[in-house]
Amino acid sequence: MKHWRVEEISWDRFEPSNIDPTIIPLIKAAAMVERNGLDYARYLNGVFHDDPAFREAADNWAVEEVQHGEALGRWASLADPDWDFEAAFKRYQAGYQVPVDADASVRGSRTGELIARCIVETGTSSYYTALADATQEPVLREVCRQIAADEFRHFKLFYDHMRRYLKRERIGILRRFRIAAGRVTESEDDELAYAFYCGNTANGAEYSHRRCIAGYFSGAMGFYQFRHIERGMGMIFKSIGLPPRGKLSALSARLAWILIKRRKQRFERQLALRA
Ligand SMILES: [Fe+2]
Ligand SMILES: [Fe+2]
Repeated sequence: MKHWRVEEISWDRFEPSNIDPTIIPLIKAAAMVERNGLDYARYLNGVFHDDPAFREAADNWAVEEVQHGEALGRWASLADPDWDFEAAFKRYQAGYQVPVDADASVRGSRTGELIARCIVETGTSSYYTALADATQEPVLREVCRQIAADEFRHFKLFYDHMRRYLKRERIGILRRFRIAAGRVTESEDDELAYAFYCGNTANGAEYSHRRCIAGYFSGAMGFYQFRHIERGMGMIFKSIGLPPRGKLSALSARLAWILIKRRKQRFERQLALRA
């Protein structure tokens, strides 16, 4: 059951003069990753093949993710009327594949799979909150607020199922930590980079993973404020079973904030060198 619909967004309030142009390539990339949600649901259906309750939840979840893609794609098409969302998405689908036919999680266990899902939802929930807080464009703000609320509900959904599997699979805290940390670093894999490439280059242009990652993250990281990182860190801690508002979480958030700022500068230097 969707909590909102694309048609309910106040598209007529669109104010092109209030757009920070650096946000447009990020929204184009995000639109494609989100719209690809059905493939991920197929993968989850394979991993949880004998759990009908979870499979149903995963199918409903994917419908919401696809809607995120549709809303973001529609906004990007308003912001850049020359952009062809359908063509860009087709290129993305042709070049990037989730392992849809797996019958076991790539994380080694179902608990692990669900922890990884919690990390992804933590990332999206924080990111869309950051974008909503940063943008002056009212329609994008509304879209990002709705999406961020969905992502937080997704986090809770995967978290609740994770707790259920954890009772059975009894994965130790160190392994849970490793899975979470692994998923955080995977954000620099091809999923986003390739979406950034397909969304923002002409067909046939050369694909450079490094340049796309640098392009995406140097832009995205600039929209965060410390409070988004602090909240995200609390959610990561909760996912692995540590106190979300303790001293360790607070310290990790401060450290992550320093690392993010450094990483942003490194990506900017890389881009400047290549230019
Ligand atoms: Fe989403
Ligand atoms: Fe989500």
